[in-house]
Amino acid sequence: MHSTTTKSQRGGGVIERYREFLPFSRATPIISLGEGNTPLIYSPRLSKLAGHGCEVFVKNEGVNPTGSFKDRGMTVAVSKAMEHGTRALICASTGNTSASASAYAARAGISCVIILPAGKIATGKLLQAFAHGAKIVAIDGNFDDALRIVRELGETDDFTIVNSINPYRIAGQKTAAFEIVDELGDAPDVHLLPVGNAGNITAYWAGYREYLGHERSTKLPAMLGFQAIGAAPIFYDRTIDKPETIASAIRIGNPASWQQARAAVGESRGAIDVVSDEDILAAQRWLAQQEGIFVEPASAASIAGFFKWCDSGDAAYSFKEIRAASRIVCTVTGLGLKDPDVMIRQMTELKPIAATVSDARRAIEL
Ligand code: F0G
Repeated sequence: MHSTTTKSQRGGGVIERYREFLPFSRATPIISLGEGNTPLIYSPRLSKLAGHGCEVFVKNEGVNPTGSFKDRGMTVAVSKAMEHGTRALICASTGNTSASASAYAARAGISCVIILPAGKIATGKLLQAFAHGAKIVAIDGNFDDALRIVRELGETDDFTIVNSINPYRIAGQKTAAFEIVDELGDAPDVHLLPVGNAGNITAYWAGYREYLGHERSTKLPAMLGFQAIGAAPIFYDRTIDKPETIASAIRIGNPASWQQARAAVGESRGAIDVVSDEDILAAQRWLAQQEGIFVEPASAASIAGFFKWCDSGDAAYSFKEIRAASRIVCTVTGLGLKDPDVMIRQMTELKPIAATVSDARRAIEL
């Protein structure tokens, strides 16, 4: 059978799809792993909870090539780095940025250095960095210390920094907002997402504004960002020296895009709010067991935030402000398999039974 797609069209990612909105010339090489085009899943159960005829959708970014939304920004940052002739990437990370940077560096044929807080990276993410052959440096310190070191090394040494302080990362990540508008036919009314270093909320807001500017949409959503209670510098309006949360991906005390996040919630009349670790884990289980979507704990912060918003009077954004028939999007940012440790602890031991139908029947009935 003849194929009608050309080699370059197959497995194309966000650059191919949204090139006109990205800083690319014909000379820029495209380093892609087929990222983006992730499912926007309608959730009848969340819609029912919201009531008022609202429709709730889950944007599942965990199905990107390395299992998180970081790939959207990484394809753009690494392609631009290759255009400028870089030989090595560097990043600080709570895990997903390093997994993504390692994979795109391998694809580009360049080396990658990652600086990580020792003992605080989820198993699956560390495994990815090893698998892709990155140079991994663990520090006695947290993500904020790692980013400080990376900023300095990036200034003095021959590295391209691929944290979200690299504007090409934000440019790539804004394509998630484009996809949502393209699929819904307009922007949603409310957008909920987890917040750590605050690059993603910055990127979505940039994407929604840009599409409005190009008349691809008629409105802008209220942006609602959720931090874990023990790592909530934006919510409390002060840096947190020792951030703590089970959601290690968002364990950040001094976010790089703090001001941009503030601007996004201010301009959109949204809010930054906090969710507890217990609520995050409950939301993670709920999403896995009620909707079949297994996300990592940090990702579940948007769902925990949605629940808080629906049922409690102390949510930072009042549910009463929601108009009937609103469209609400919750972004879940990363795949559950990356961060299995908490779930593994909850697993009960499997005791084998005799390999007979009758024993199986008895076991099932228990
Ligand atoms: N969700 C996941 C799964 C993440 O890995 C991150 C950030 C966030 C949410 C928050 O996004 O930082 O743009 O506000 N992870 C970074 C990393 C910090 O190093 O992988 P943000």
